[in-house]
Amino acid sequence: MKFFVDTADTKEIRSLAETGLLDGVTTNPTLMAKSGRNMLEVIAEICDVVAGPVSAEVAATDYESIMREAKVLRRIAKNVTIKVPLTPDGLRACKALSSDGAMVNVTLCFSAAQALLAAKAGATFISPFVGRLDDIGHVGMELIADIVQIYKNYDTLKTEVLVASVRSPLHVIDAAKIGAHVATLPPAVLRSLYQHPLTEKGLATFLADWAKTGQHIEEPKTAAHA
Ligand code: G3P
Repeated sequence: MKFFVDTADTKEIRSLAETGLLDGVTTNPTLMAKSGRNMLEVIAEICDVVAGPVSAEVAATDYESIMREAKVLRRIAKNVTIKVPLTPDGLRACKALSSDGAMVNVTLCFSAAQALLAAKAGATFISPFVGRLDDIGHVGMELIADIVQIYKNYDTLKTEVLVASVRSPLHVIDAAKIGAHVATLPPAVLRSLYQHPLTEKGLATFLADWAKTGQHIEEPKTAAHA
């Protein structure tokens, strides 16, 4: 399963990229507003740090304007993925952009029917929002299972399921069990995947016992230096 981080905070992205476990980045207008920075500069900076897909979302809603904005965003770097809303105009743009070789992430997906349309439009990624479905009393993960099952039925559909609106490590595990291709995680959720109290406790014991030995793991001194 690929891990993307869902943020426009470049400091966080740099730090998470150092782990070697970061496969891509997703942003959206809300995250961009939170950064308080110029979108084009932020996307360029992220693309310098992360080689994988970096989703940059258009703000336009009609086909012509989406295509105009996509042109600007695509110029930033090869790994920019154009994020479009799941609307008739968004999917029309998705079809045109993917036919022209661009990566496209179709966002704001809340039904399997929408996911099927996005795949037919040649989306690179479909982003179903699990957390927001949970928020209104639906089981978001059921949508992930439905989409994964549907896509598996057709070899011609190459779209990857990118689980979005992830709120907890449990969402990540459930999505991985289903076989979703990607999860985009807020930085705090990504960092929480490392944590287990028994790991911390076990490490503290090992280090305390090691200290008792008085040893150090280092290059043995050669005779010449002895
Ligand atoms: O980027 C899309 C998605 O991950 C948003 O998540 O937490 O705002 O529902 P959230």
